[in-house]
Amino acid sequence: MKNFTVLPICVVLLFIRTSTSLDSITQSAPLRDGETLVSSGGVFEMGFFSPGKSNNRYLGIWYMHISPLTVVWVANREAPISDGSGILVTNDQGILALVDSTNRTVWSSSSSIIAEKPIVRLLDTGNLIISDQKYSKDHFIWQSFDYPCDTLLPGMKLGFNLVTGLNRFLSSWRSPDDPGQGENVLKLERRGYPQSFQFRRNVIHFRAGSWNGLYFTGYPVQKQNPVYKAKFVFNDKEAYYEYELVNSSVYSRIVMSPSGIGKRLVWSNQRGIWEIISANLADQCDNYGLCGAYSLCDFSSSRVCHCLKGFVPRNVEQWNISDWSGGCVRKALLDCNSLDSFRKYRGVKLPDTSSSRFNKTMSLEECRQSCLRNCSCTAYANLDIRDGGSGCLVWFKDLIDMKQLPQGGQDIFIRVPASELDFFEEKRYWNNNKRKLIGITVGSITINMSVILIVFGLIRCARKSKLKRSGKTKIYYSRNPCYNDLRMEDTEIQIFDLSVIVKATNNFSNINKLGEGGFGSVYKGTLGHGQELAVKRLSEYSIQGLEEFKNEVLLIAKLQHRNLVKLLGCCIEREEKLLIYEYMPNKSLDQFIFDEIRSKLLDWTKRFHIINGIARGLVYLHQDSRLRVIHRDLKTSNILLDTNLNPKISDFGLARTLWGDQIEAKTNRIAGTYGYMSPEYVMHGDFSIKSDVFSFGVILLEIISGKKNRGFSDLENYLNLLGYAWRLWREGMALELMDQALGERFNPSEVIQCIQVGLLCVQQRPEDRPDMSSVVLMLNGEKSLPDPHVPAYYIERKIPEADPSSEKCNPSSPNEMSLSIFEAR
Ligand SMILES: *[C@@H]1O[C@H](CO)[C@@H](O)[C@H](O)[C@H]1NC(C)=O
Ligand SMILES: *[C@@H]1O[C@H](CO)[C@@H](O)[C@H](O)[C@H]1NC(C)=O
Ligand SMILES: *[C@@H]1O[C@H](CO)[C@@H](O)[C@H](O)[C@H]1NC(C)=O
Ligand SMILES: *[C@@H]1O[C@H](CO)[C@@H](O)[C@H](O)[C@H]1NC(C)=O
Ligand SMILES: *[C@@H]1O[C@H](CO)[C@@H](O)[C@H](O)[C@H]1NC(C)=O
Repeated sequence: MKNFTVLPICVVLLFIRTSTSLDSITQSAPLRDGETLVSSGGVFEMGFFSPGKSNNRYLGIWYMHISPLTVVWVANREAPISDGSGILVTNDQGILALVDSTNRTVWSSSSSIIAEKPIVRLLDTGNLIISDQKYSKDHFIWQSFDYPCDTLLPGMKLGFNLVTGLNRFLSSWRSPDDPGQGENVLKLERRGYPQSFQFRRNVIHFRAGSWNGLYFTGYPVQKQNPVYKAKFVFNDKEAYYEYELVNSSVYSRIVMSPSGIGKRLVWSNQRGIWEIISANLADQCDNYGLCGAYSLCDFSSSRVCHCLKGFVPRNVEQWNISDWSGGCVRKALLDCNSLDSFRKYRGVKLPDTSSSRFNKTMSLEECRQSCLRNCSCTAYANLDIRDGGSGCLVWFKDLIDMKQLPQGGQDIFIRVPASELDFFEEKRYWNNNKRKLIGITVGSITINMSVILIVFGLIRCARKSKLKRSGKTKIYYSRNPCYNDLRMEDTEIQIFDLSVIVKATNNFSNINKLGEGGFGSVYKGTLGHGQELAVKRLSEYSIQGLEEFKNEVLLIAKLQHRNLVKLLGCCIEREEKLLIYEYMPNKSLDQFIFDEIRSKLLDWTKRFHIINGIARGLVYLHQDSRLRVIHRDLKTSNILLDTNLNPKISDFGLARTLWGDQIEAKTNRIAGTYGYMSPEYVMHGDFSIKSDVFSFGVILLEIISGKKNRGFSDLENYLNLLGYAWRLWREGMALELMDQALGERFNPSEVIQCIQVGLLCVQQRPEDRPDMSSVVLMLNGEKSLPDPHVPAYYIERKIPEADPSSEKCNPSSPNEMSLSIFEAR
């Protein structure tokens, strides 16, 4: 009987959701808003959609079976339709036109060829095509692949056609709510030897450079990846980049995000998210032309820009104050005869090729000869690095935008006068060899970053020589596809000797133990000169594996805020993994608020100060820190208090960073602490900044009430702390929630406002919870507060428990729902 009551509701929902789908568009069967065109294999779907928070309607193509909606192409990106009146029509000449209610054509496909019997279809590649029966199947009169938006799909060409003049490039959306062309553009330029550029507001932002047979020289690829194969085609007719998938049933795309990060994503069925497999993580040297002419940018050295050997700064004063834009000039003029020589530089990103010429068949020696013959030739290199190198690329004019790459890169030969070469050939040989040896050790430290373990291993090796002096080293995280879950720039963390820590903690004695957590124990340590430390020692069998350890080190090293605990350094030696933090003499918040005596030390003013501090720390994590960090395990025992009772958020072992504009993610491994986890995280593994907001709400209510959410019992009504707080608030008795230990000195309206904020944070639906910057404004009375609804996990005795079968109607699982109905029909 139950099923009968449930089914009709589902059917109604289904009719709202699904719509008719067509397999082609013809004159008599246009595509209306609400209908979709589906590719024959059901991979892609085209129809009308509204992006993000916008209500505007756009005609777009998306993956049929991927949720959330992932749009790969938009027709009327600059001309939205404000209502549901849009119709895509085709005329007898095979021109598609998107028309709105006023018969205005907001978008149309342009093609000069007139079709006799046009057919409009959406292919399983995501390509919308117009073909004509009079041509072969593969000949398209028009195709959406020729007009990319922000997405490059497998089989799409990025580049130009010299015959038709077409130049296909990627351009970001303006924002997640507006698919109109934004400020970031990824494009091939055809001057000289073609190169790939990223433009921001029409200015070169980053030059990925020329193709060397395997990759664009500024985007070194370390190893064969299992997902895609890329190629670059350059002949008399066209120049373009294209990739295909190794496994065609995998979904992958390249997208230029509104914030200007070009990334390659692959859909993970298992995790239900788009995983980033590589992204253009710009470092300082990727600022186009930062070092001016004839210099090499090396972000792993303390002075970023270096003049090439035989060159000096054009303006020494500017150069000395780190204004490198003037670049470098030759110390001695070229002889301009066959006496000139070339100095070899290894592993570089080749300079801008807009003033270069190439020859695909010349050998390197022929290349050298041809460069020597022309006095304005400044450098040469192989065109293609495959099979030991082939082809010839020669530069005329100044060499700009060269970079020393941490891995990969190419060899280039730069012209210098004979007088510039070292006088004693032997001496040079020796110097070179010595330099090479040093280069290998030092180089490896800064270069080989693919596995953080290697980094730590090498640092240990190098420590003796390097760190003893300074006690500190810089670890640089390079652009690296293996480590792209963190957006890294140079980070400074101290590496401690295990022996120093053993001594400081009395060999991890029990007396020094401050606490124990899931990941191991925390010890107090005192260095020789009296500095106190908190040492987190990860137990061998701790849940915090190496992954989380890396995560925490890298994350915290980047995060600096007065409401976050400060990481001083780390130590990996033998089996030990240690994190060294500043010491917090007042330990954690839970040891105050849940303690009968110590709770009296926290009056309302102090508690309000703590609540505010935590909120500000979270605003920083969520939006101000450039990395978008979700803590995932906020609880009172992770809030530490310094001498002045300032709160500091700690324990980032579970924290995740989200990429750029990504705002939520999913995990199969739900880790956190019950009582603080939001319902969507507990049930579906969905976490977002709003799951942290939930935990914050719980902490806030715990601070006010002095009671633990977990373990709270209200025998009369079976309520948890959240339900209890809501009940009181609803009945106008919110002040009763307050901890008895607080006494009488407080501002009642401030407390009530605070409770209301807490309740808003623990709402069932993430979208009903405010974000942390709103929370800060609300706490300080700068933003009006909406009325909270029933909080999550609210069960009242008198209300019968929800019918579990009604979960089938849960709109969050539309796929399962539609599936069961299709089977039923
Ligand atoms: C739009 O065009 C159609 C056919 O051309 C016509 O029947 C209809 O009246 C027009 N509507 C408006 C609002 O102009
Ligand atoms: C291709 O990918 C699909 C889906 O991920 C997988 O099931 C299949 O085994 C893969 N095929 C090969 C040959 O790897
Ligand atoms: C620039 O710096 C170098 C090395 O530090 C120093 O020798 C030189 O005198 C400085 N020149 C000027 C003009 O400041
Ligand atoms: C490339 O170099 C070879 C050998 O020097 C020459 O025969 C050929 O004409 C050159 N090709 C072009 C396009 O200049
Ligand atoms: C050297 O190369 C430049 C630039 O390509 C060219 O304009 C010039 O004619 C060449 N000079 C000689 C002597 O070949």
